[in-house]
Amino acid sequence: MFTKNPLILAPMAGLCDRPYRRLCRSFGADLAVSEMISAKGLVYGDRKSRILLAPDESDRPYWAQLFGSEPEIIRDAAQIALEAGADLIDINMGCPVKKVVRTGAGAALLREPERAEAIMRALNRAPAIPYTIKIRSGWNNQQTVLDLFIEMAATHNAQALTCHPRTAAMMFSGRADWQQLAAALPRATLPIIGSGDINDPQTAIKALAIPGLAGIMLGRGTLGHPWIFREIKKLLQEGVEWTPDSELKRATILKHGELLSEEYGEKTGLLLYRKHLAWYSKGLAGAAAFRKRLFTLTSFAELENAIGDLFQEDV
Ligand SMILES: Cc1cc2nc3c(=O)[nH]c(=O)nc-3n(C[C@H](O)[C@H](O)[C@H](O)COP(=O)(O)O)c2cc1C
Repeated sequence: MFTKNPLILAPMAGLCDRPYRRLCRSFGADLAVSEMISAKGLVYGDRKSRILLAPDESDRPYWAQLFGSEPEIIRDAAQIALEAGADLIDINMGCPVKKVVRTGAGAALLREPERAEAIMRALNRAPAIPYTIKIRSGWNNQQTVLDLFIEMAATHNAQALTCHPRTAAMMFSGRADWQQLAAALPRATLPIIGSGDINDPQTAIKALAIPGLAGIMLGRGTLGHPWIFREIKKLLQEGVEWTPDSELKRATILKHGELLSEEYGEKTGLLLYRKHLAWYSKGLAGAAAFRKRLFTLTSFAELENAIGDLFQEDV
């Protein structure tokens, strides 16, 4: 799964739903990770968590991400996810958001390596669950846990480890420290995937050239730009600097709306579509007027016209 330097859509809560994963896959994302799903929610039968977990056949192998803090609950949730059709389970050990950290999940596990290890041990217990972990480089600058977590993940048979090399304290400020990640690779005995600040094909290719790196994840750089996966592959495989023409962009944006409408119904789909449309329109002539207009539209048919007008203005 991680042998061919995959380009991966990073997990993003509230964004990487089935429609978005499908869209990015259609542009060449080799893998995609689901939004984080509460382990507790799954175990206690929460309906929303079950909906988030639903697989999509165009997104295989299906890599579902769980968050939680209790080893046995995470193991039970992982089992539920496998039964529901997930192929691989990622455990979120990097989310720095207060709401998550307060519960002992996400990046809180970087401060509690024993608990993180207990989670890995529980997942590796027979019958072993196919799993990966995703971390940040540490809680703060005083405490880097990259080497420790790489070692624990290898010991407990994780299939890969993804690192976003910022500390939890940094949230999204500063820059991802790719040098720190690169320096840890020679000692790693499991595939390591890098995530952070890959926003264009040139940066992606530089990251893929880091010796020993098994793959890269792209998150924010895909927003309004899901075709970035094809841009990277064209440059990587053919040396061609490709960008979609206005027609393909317009068709992609409309397709995204269609997928959202199918998934959630027109009303909710429209709400979710708006935030993506703000990203899609960024930098286009007429974007400001378009974004204003978005709030007055109440149907997909009206939106289609607005999107058509936007691209009319852009040519
Ligand atoms: C809106 C948003 C939501 C995110 N949600 C998750 C999540 O659910 N699970 C996770 O492991 N990381 C999450 N991340 C972190 C990303 O997966 C990624 O590691 C990080 O954004 C750095 O990559 P980027 O610079 O390509 O965005 C999220 C990031 C953003 C911006």
